[in-house]
Amino acid sequence: MPRVANPLVFLILLAPFLYGAWQVTLIVLGELHELGIDPAKAIVLYTGEWAIRFIFAALAVSTIARVTGRKQILRYRRMVGLFAFFYVSLHLASYLGFLLGFRFDELFADVVKRPYMTVGFLAWAMLLPLAATSNRAMVRRLGRRWITLHRLVYPIAVLSVLHFLWQTRADVGEPILYGALLTALLGERVYRAAAARRASGKVPLPAQGGPA
Ligand code: HEM
Repeated sequence: MPRVANPLVFLILLAPFLYGAWQVTLIVLGELHELGIDPAKAIVLYTGEWAIRFIFAALAVSTIARVTGRKQILRYRRMVGLFAFFYVSLHLASYLGFLLGFRFDELFADVVKRPYMTVGFLAWAMLLPLAATSNRAMVRRLGRRWITLHRLVYPIAVLSVLHFLWQTRADVGEPILYGALLTALLGERVYRAAAARRASGKVPLPAQGGPA
């Protein structure tokens, strides 16, 4: 893969943030912007949408690499994962800053009171150890425990879909689509693990003519 690919991929992944930041700058300057009549809420929704897209992108990288045989794309998985953490944190920060005016007590009350917020916060908290252990030194230091720890991405994705579904008042189509996508991504992993176990002879194949 060419050397320019890394900064290029970085810029592509940063583009949603740059667009959002540009829109906020336009508001500050009193210029025309595209965030509608409630820009604060629009930013929270915008960052939430990118947060869930990046979580799913992080999960999908290895699936795509396996299915297409393009193992080179695995080198971007860490970057995509860190961007997922970045966008979720931005989402949390924009809610805290733009909607709550940095009143931490209200954030705490919301997280305790509203179930969709509880699961969202839990997902963000579970991303913290993943982001903190994403560097090479931690991968080396944790060894197999790193793999176990990074399986947290599965409950994080489940909680993200729940959070999305729970806060939606009208159209549940998009969260349900994410739920279906998650089922497919997890299904592929379960299928592959079962196939690997069978290949290694740990799970005997059912006898011919016996139950499947
Ligand atoms: C992994 C963690 C999270 C993900 C993936 C996520 C994703 C999302 C998504 C997709 C939406 C809906 C966007 C839309 O309808 O267009 C949303 C809405 C929202 N999220 Fe999150 N979120 C996460 C964590 C959080 C956290 C930690 C908070 C705050 C404590 C939070 C607060 C909100 C709020 C206030 C809304 C808007 C609800 C409304 O319409 O009133 N989210 N989030």
